[in-house]
Amino acid sequence: MLWRLIPVALILVAIGAVTVGCIGQVSQRVSGTSAANYPADVLKGGGLYAEYACVQCHGVGGRSASALRGTGPSLVSNEFKRTFPKGVSYDSALVSVIRNGMISENDRAASMPAWNGILSEEDMLNIVAYIRASLPDVGVPVPGAQTGEDVYRAFACDKCHGPLGAGGIRNVAARDPGHQVIPALGGADFKKRLRSKDEVRTRLLEGTFVEEGRTGVLYGPAWGKIGTADQIEKVIDYIWEFGGR
Ligand code: HEC
Ligand code: HEC
Repeated sequence: MLWRLIPVALILVAIGAVTVGCIGQVSQRVSGTSAANYPADVLKGGGLYAEYACVQCHGVGGRSASALRGTGPSLVSNEFKRTFPKGVSYDSALVSVIRNGMISENDRAASMPAWNGILSEEDMLNIVAYIRASLPDVGVPVPGAQTGEDVYRAFACDKCHGPLGAGGIRNVAARDPGHQVIPALGGADFKKRLRSKDEVRTRLLEGTFVEEGRTGVLYGPAWGKIGTADQIEKVIDYIWEFGGR
């Protein structure tokens, strides 16, 4: 009988050790900036802020210009707080900026992408909650952007063009039949349209397709001011292989 009890005792000791380990870790985080202190919507929003490339343009903590060459405006400045004071109606104004984007008239390459249908309404509200909390560190790392595959994920290309550029994601508000689906980045059509890496580069640097006078239509964001030349070349090489070119 005793021989059966020994392993159980060992397991109990092991569980005890793990539990003590966890408690040690938790108390460490609580005393620092702890993710556990933030409401669920702020935590969710912080994850989405990194995952959907907001951080690439607006910077860590929404502080705009950063090592990541962000060109998005600060989301914590006094000017921002004056434009969007706290309140339900300004929260919905923020949701509508995220949904519809903002095309910068004098510099197309410094536009805010539209996320209509890519982010759900609830996700946009979570991000707004995160912005309202002044974009704290919730323990989500900024995605690395070294390899082409990294860049493809860090810049959220996969969110709009699908993993491996498979495409098929709807451009929910587009009226023009040629633009109702976000293009795949491989396959016969893509190869016919974009015949060289130079052509792909131009699309990436300048952004693509804007439907006049209609809100909520997605357009291809311009990445020339966000990615370094090296990151742009790597992501071009990466997508060039899609569909076995
Ligand atoms: C490719 C770069 C880029 C990405 C990615 C990006 N933004 Fe922006 N964003 C901008 C630029 C540039 C502007 C300013 C546009 C203008 O003023 O015409 C802007 C404007 C905004 C504004 C309005 C700020 C103001 O003061 O008017 C909000 C809010 C915002 N972005 C939130 C987000 C969120 C949330 C995400 C992620 C879902 C995101 N952005 C992703 C570039 C970006
Ligand atoms: C917010 C959504 C979104 C994100 C993020 C995004 N794109 Fe796009 N992209 C689009 C849309 C929408 C179009 C084309 C609109 C149209 O012509 O109908 C487009 C067009 C393109 C085109 C031109 C395709 C063609 O057939 O003409 C290329 C190439 C491209 N994107 C690559 C990328 C890469 C690489 C990334 C990441 C660095 C990226 N995109 C990130 C939405 C996005």
